[in-house]
Amino acid sequence: MKWASGVLWLLLGLLLLGIWQLDALSAERRGWASVALVAYALVLARSLRRQRASAPPASDRVDYRVVYATETGTARQLAQATCKRLRKSGFSAEPVALNQLGRVEPPDRALLLVVSTTGNGDPPKTAVGWEASVQLDRFAGRPFAVLALGDRSYPRFCAFGLEVAQRFQAAGGKPLFAPVQVSQADPRMIDLWFRQLQQESA
Ligand SMILES: Cc1cc2nc3c(=O)[nH]c(=O)nc-3n(C[C@H](O)[C@H](O)[C@H](O)COP(=O)(O)O)c2cc1C
Repeated sequence: MKWASGVLWLLLGLLLLGIWQLDALSAERRGWASVALVAYALVLARSLRRQRASAPPASDRVDYRVVYATETGTARQLAQATCKRLRKSGFSAEPVALNQLGRVEPPDRALLLVVSTTGNGDPPKTAVGWEASVQLDRFAGRPFAVLALGDRSYPRFCAFGLEVAQRFQAAGGKPLFAPVQVSQADPRMIDLWFRQLQQESA
């Protein structure tokens, strides 16, 4: 989108020049119009800079994308730990929020999803609106795996994680193994996730 902001700056420059060519305006009014235009340009530049900083790189290719859907941060931490292990094994791996997945390239090796459930079997914060932003058919024929975080004391144990797994499979994704369901961050199940990943990536 660099060309779009270039065009925008060019238009603003032309507008500024135009203001000073308008003989019908007094010098004072031209001055105020120019100040307003420059202030607008500064606000625009700031918001473009922020937008660029928050957007994940659009074209980077990686071996693994580790997607997280989290309410209170556990899934994000586990996604980061998963990336760390994969990098140690020599792969490239990047974390991304589930509702940002539509903005990045599918991975070369596999999509790994670390997904918590909140409410009564509901999607957590970083998953809200994910279906509208992710084109699931981009993942058809591609390997994926799900680590579903939850708590057995809730009637709909790991419901959202299982729903995500089901949606990717229905779209033609290839599960590497059955979703690993974790209650209260049980370290034994988290270890199982890492062991299964290690086997798959060996
Ligand atoms: C308000 C609330 C609602 C929850 N609802 C569910 C649920 O419906 N099913 C489930 O399996 N776990 C549920 N959990 C448990 C969380 O999924 C679990 O604690 C998870 O590890 C939180 O991960 P996060 O930090 O990534 O959000 C709920 C937890 C809270 C605090």
